[in-house]
Amino acid sequence: MNPVSLIQFLIEERRAGHINAELSLLLEVVARACKRIGVAVNKGALGGVLGNAGTDNVQGEAQKKLDVISNEILLEANAWGGHLAACASEEMEDPQPIHDMYPKGHHLLLFDPLDGSSNIDVNVSVGTIFSVLRCPDEVTEPTAEHFLQPGTAQLAAGYVVYGPATVLVLTFGHGTHEFTLDREVGSFVLSRRAVLIPPTTAEFAINMSNQRHWEAPMQRYVGELLAGKDGPRGRDFNMRWVGSMVADVHRILTRGGVFYYPLDAKIRANGGTGKLRLMYEANPMAFIVEQAGGMATTGRARVLDVQPTALHQRVPVFLGSQEEVALVTHYHCEADGAQDGGR
Ligand code: AHG
Repeated sequence: MNPVSLIQFLIEERRAGHINAELSLLLEVVARACKRIGVAVNKGALGGVLGNAGTDNVQGEAQKKLDVISNEILLEANAWGGHLAACASEEMEDPQPIHDMYPKGHHLLLFDPLDGSSNIDVNVSVGTIFSVLRCPDEVTEPTAEHFLQPGTAQLAAGYVVYGPATVLVLTFGHGTHEFTLDREVGSFVLSRRAVLIPPTTAEFAINMSNQRHWEAPMQRYVGELLAGKDGPRGRDFNMRWVGSMVADVHRILTRGGVFYYPLDAKIRANGGTGKLRLMYEANPMAFIVEQAGGMATTGRARVLDVQPTALHQRVPVFLGSQEEVALVTHYHCEADGAQDGGR
C-alpha cells in the first residue's frame, strides 16, 4: 500500500467531516514549523543553537537558545495564514494577536515550543506540544480570558518528538495517529493509525528525587510498585524517566506505561499548584492519551475537565495506562474521602 502523507490524511479527515479547511491548514502550518524546529535541533553545536539565551521566560526559568528560536519559528509560521485569531506560548506572558495586516481566522493556538529543553545540550530527545481551541465567535481581539477553556473544548492537539526519528502525533478527537518524518522526501508519513495504549503496564515514569516531598497516597502507590512481586501488587515494575515529557509520553504511546508529575510539599511550599502547565502540556497530552484509550487525571479529577483560571496555570499530571492511573487516582480520592475522579 502507498504511504499516506500528512496532507493526504488531513484531506481524508476533512472529507470525513472531522476537521474543516481552516483547521487542516493550521495543522499543516504547525507541522511545517516543527520540521524547521527539527532542523535547528538536529544541527546541535554546528548551528550555534546550544546553551542559554541569557533571558528568563514568564515562569522565571532560564531560556535556552532553542526555546527562543522554536518560539519564533512557530509565531512567524502562523502569523499570516489567516487560520488563527491569536497564539499563546509557554514562553510568553500574554497571547500574541494576529497582526492587522493579515487576515484573522477562528482558531486559538497554544504551544510549548520546546519541551524538555534541559535535555537539549546533552543530545536527548526534546519536543513541541500544541493545542487548538476555537476562538469564541463574537471575539475579534482575543485576550488571555478567551483561551481559558477546559481541555474538553480542544479541537486538536499534538506533539512532535525530535528523537532519532522526528515523529508527529495528532488527535482531533477521532483517535490518535502517528506520523514519521521522511527526511529524504521532507514530509510526514502516517506510521501508526489509531494508536492504542495497553490498559495494563509494568513500567512507570516519575522523578524519584522528589519522593520525600510527596503526599501520602503517592508514597503508598509508588511504595507498592517498588515492593514488586513481594508486595501487594504481586509483580515487578520497571522505571524509565527521560525528563522530556514528550519523550516519556511517546514511550507510553508506543509500549504502554505511566507518567506522573504529582503535587508535592516542595511545590506547595513555593506557592505552586503543580509542575506542568495545564494549557501547554497537561491538556494536549491528556487529549492525546485519552484518544489512545489511556487515562489522564490530576490525581483527583480528569485533566480535561479542569476549568482553567490562568493561562500559565500548573497542575499535577497522572497519565497513561488505564489500570495504573485509575489506581493512583483512587488512592488520592480515598485519602481525601472523595469519590474517584478521572472518567
Ligand atoms: P521544560 O520544558 O521547561 O524543560 O520542562 C520540562 C518538563 C517536562 O518535560 C519534564 O517531564 C519535567 O519538566 C521535568 O522536570 P524536573 O526535571 O524538574 O523533574
